[in-house]
Amino acid sequence: MSGPLVLAIESSCDETGVAIVEGGRRIHADVVASQVALHAPSGGIVPEVAARAHLRWILPALDEAWAAAPGLDWRDVDAVSVTYGPGLAGSLLVGVNVAKTLAWVHDKPLVGVNHLEGHIYAAWLVDRDEAEPEAPGFPLVALVVSGGHTFLVEMRDHLTYRLLGGTVDDAAGEAFDKVGRLLGLGYPGGPAVQRAAEAARSRDVVFPRAWLPGTYDFSFSGLKTAARRIVDAARLHEGLAGEPAAPLSEGRTAELAWGFQDSVVDVLATKTARAAREVGARTIVLGGGVAANDALRGRLADEARALGLPLVIPRPGLCTDNGAMIGAAAAHRLAAGDLAGFDLDARPSLPLAER
Ligand code: KG4
Ligand code: ZN
Repeated sequence: MSGPLVLAIESSCDETGVAIVEGGRRIHADVVASQVALHAPSGGIVPEVAARAHLRWILPALDEAWAAAPGLDWRDVDAVSVTYGPGLAGSLLVGVNVAKTLAWVHDKPLVGVNHLEGHIYAAWLVDRDEAEPEAPGFPLVALVVSGGHTFLVEMRDHLTYRLLGGTVDDAAGEAFDKVGRLLGLGYPGGPAVQRAAEAARSRDVVFPRAWLPGTYDFSFSGLKTAARRIVDAARLHEGLAGEPAAPLSEGRTAELAWGFQDSVVDVLATKTARAAREVGARTIVLGGGVAANDALRGRLADEARALGLPLVIPRPGLCTDNGAMIGAAAAHRLAAGDLAGFDLDARPSLPLAER
């Protein structure tokens, strides 16, 4: 065994995750019970429904994690870790209380992890049978783009974060979800918008970009308003103005999805590359649910190549919420002696770093 074995729990939003991670890198088990199907009918997450689903799935997920890691048992575990913020209070409380109980029953140290640092630490993860690549080198610049957060951060060492900028309104994933709904593509909008965009025949629809010059900040609410205007104009053009239930043609939907995605990707990738250059980064890291987006992955790969920097993007299943990323960050907190007490509480608005 190289490094501590950590059992990690993630329940901050709408995925119940339980993972077993060795040395902050190697995944022995990573079980994610997704609630996407549960929230799809309402077109968004209902906090009360999410909390109840975590309660229902967290122990089965724990059993499944052990079943996925033959040869390991509680005696091998060095710490129990859990996301304690930011996120939905009711959802966080389920994970925090289960983690505390497990730590107490099995007499293991408890480690509290910030969900956002988890998204960054996903960059260190390797699958069980995968060769271990070199760890991301410091200083690094990480772009975290999820349904609830969008920010750029500089790390000069483990667990030290300097916030370079962040969204002043909507998160990038939130914009994908809203525009997905506007285009009638269902929930969650991100993957659906990507799929629609891939089918676009022409790439001449240009959506606005909010550059917020001189900052590393982002803004997506104007883009959302522009999207509504552009979709309305397209509906008028297709004679659908008086028929709210009739969908826009598939071809036009694809072109608009592409235009919207291109605007988000352009701003995110351009600012990340600029930040990497200006802080003298040795590595660029991309994390969070929107990092699963192929257009963003491709564009950032081009930017990193142009800068001669390695780019680390976890595989899509490790970009969206999961327990393994919490186990990766927890190994460093454990090594630093940063342990939580049994008074660990859910912190729905926990910041990653102050500016
Ligand atoms: O990190 P995550 O699983 O949960 C939060 O912490 O928010 O991110 C979920 C977000 C959703 O907004 C979803 O639409 C977006 O990530 N997302 C994507 C893609 N896959 C997930 N956005 C764009 N393209 C994708 N392929
Ligand atoms: Zn997340």
